[in-house]
Amino acid sequence: MGKIYPSLTFEHKEAVDQAKSALRALITEKQCAPLMLRFAFHSAATFDVKTTTGGPFGTMRHKAEQNHGANVGLDVAVEMLEPIKQQFPLVSYGDIYMMAGIVAVESTGGPEITFHPGRPDMDAPPEEGRLPLPNFGHEQLRNVFVNTMGLTDQDIVALSGGHTLGSTHKDRSGFDGPWTSNPMVFDNSYFTELLAGEKVGLVQLPSDKALLADPGFRPLVEKFAADQQAFFQAFAESFLKLSELGFADFNN
Ligand code: HEM
Repeated sequence: MGKIYPSLTFEHKEAVDQAKSALRALITEKQCAPLMLRFAFHSAATFDVKTTTGGPFGTMRHKAEQNHGANVGLDVAVEMLEPIKQQFPLVSYGDIYMMAGIVAVESTGGPEITFHPGRPDMDAPPEEGRLPLPNFGHEQLRNVFVNTMGLTDQDIVALSGGHTLGSTHKDRSGFDGPWTSNPMVFDNSYFTELLAGEKVGLVQLPSDKALLADPGFRPLVEKFAADQQAFFQAFAESFLKLSELGFADFNN
């Protein structure tokens, strides 16, 4: 599907660049790259291609959406980002939330990700129940990512590599611990650890293990474990798609 991006004023573009710098400073100072990447994913992954509702349009600023079961802990991210929105009022919540994810990846050693600004902010949060859950098997993952969001098998595997950053928390999801031994570094170790099997101190969710069980997913896990450059390129492409679900499409 083709895209026609909004053309912004010089002043607006300047504000976007300055907001990105402010995000870089915040994420470095607070060491919150993992939280911000999870936040950006949950902010965008509510998109439903059939009804063109949900998606990266800043609706997570509403308490109603923060209160969805899958979003436990993300209210902290909303609060941390609010001063940046106040400082750069021209930049939408949707743009700030997606840039927070991009800066999280770039500032921890991951690939550069293309960003097109100009998302409008929407008022109505999506209904609860659209995000993938940790007990999902391969067909349920495909149902959310492919049937509902309109993404591909490669996008599922590449984006799942986001779990190279951060950790699960007992008081949030009930799981406890990181996926990799260097959870503040964005690299391909999510895939090498997944193939290596369970290890003391590291976590694999059922939804992570589902990537090994599916004949469409597993070859991509193996490719990304063997070739970090291939993972970085795929992740950058998939995150760009994720960040633009329902944004700037021709037929909207
Ligand atoms: C494939 C389906 C997915 C499921 C079922 C899932 C589920 C989860 C769960 C249960 C947690 C732990 C929350 C906690 O206890 O604090 C988590 C954390 C996280 N997720 Fe996912 N996730 C998925 C995909 C993704 C994607 C696509 C990304 C980013 C591209 C992502 C980024 C993260 C990050 C960075 C964390 C760590 C957050 C922190 O350290 O605070 N996840 N995810």
